[in-house]
Amino acid sequence: MTGSQKCSLSSVLCPPPDIDRFGATAYIAAMAVREILILPDKRLRQVSAPVKKIDAGIRKLVEDMFESMYDAPGIGLAAVQVGTPKRVVTMDLSKKEETEKNPQVFINPEIVWSSEEKATYEEGCLSIPEFYEEVERSAQVKVKYLDLEGKTHQVEANGLLATCLQHEIDHLNGVLFIDHISKLKRDRVVKKFTKAAKRAATEGRRAEVGDDP
Ligand code: NI
Repeated sequence: MTGSQKCSLSSVLCPPPDIDRFGATAYIAAMAVREILILPDKRLRQVSAPVKKIDAGIRKLVEDMFESMYDAPGIGLAAVQVGTPKRVVTMDLSKKEETEKNPQVFINPEIVWSSEEKATYEEGCLSIPEFYEEVERSAQVKVKYLDLEGKTHQVEANGLLATCLQHEIDHLNGVLFIDHISKLKRDRVVKKFTKAAKRAATEGRRAEVGDDP
C-alpha cells in the first residue's frame, strides 16, 4: 500500500549521518530489491499459501520485502506483489517526522473480527502506481498473526493500521483495492494499465530487435 498524503517515507529513507555506516551498508548489501508486479499481472490474483515453517527462506523474503517496500517507497507490501505467493506482509506506518523506522511483519495474518463501523481512506498500491481512490472498510479489526519467531500475536487495530492490514490481507487472497471501487472506475484503471503494459512489451521487443547485430 502507498499512503498518498498521510505517510511519506522520505525521512526514514535518509538515516541521520551518525548511524554506523559500515554496518548499515553491510546489512543492505545482503538484501535485494525485488521487482514489484504491476496491474494487470495475473500473478497478483493468486491466492497465497500459508507459511508452514519460518526458515531462512522466509527470513530472506521478509528482508527483501522491506528493502523493496522502502525503495518504492510504500507503507505496506504483500509477498505476492514480489512474485512469492506466501502469506507474508511487511509494513511501516511511521510518520515522516519520525526518524525511527517501525518495521512490522505479519505472517499468516487472519482477520478474526471486524467492526460494523466503517472508515474511508484514500488508498494506493505499489502494484497500481500513482492511482489513488477512496475505499470504505471496517474501522476496526482484530488480526491474529505470527512474528518472525513463530510466536502468535493478536492486534486490535484502528485507523491507518486497520486499513493497511485489510488492504494487505486482501492481496493474500488475490484481491486488489480497486475491487472495492465502482466498476466504472475499476474498468478505467485496468484499461489504462493494460495499455501501458502492452506498450512496454512492444517497446521491449523493439529494443531486443535493435540490439541484434
Ligand atoms: Ni497494495
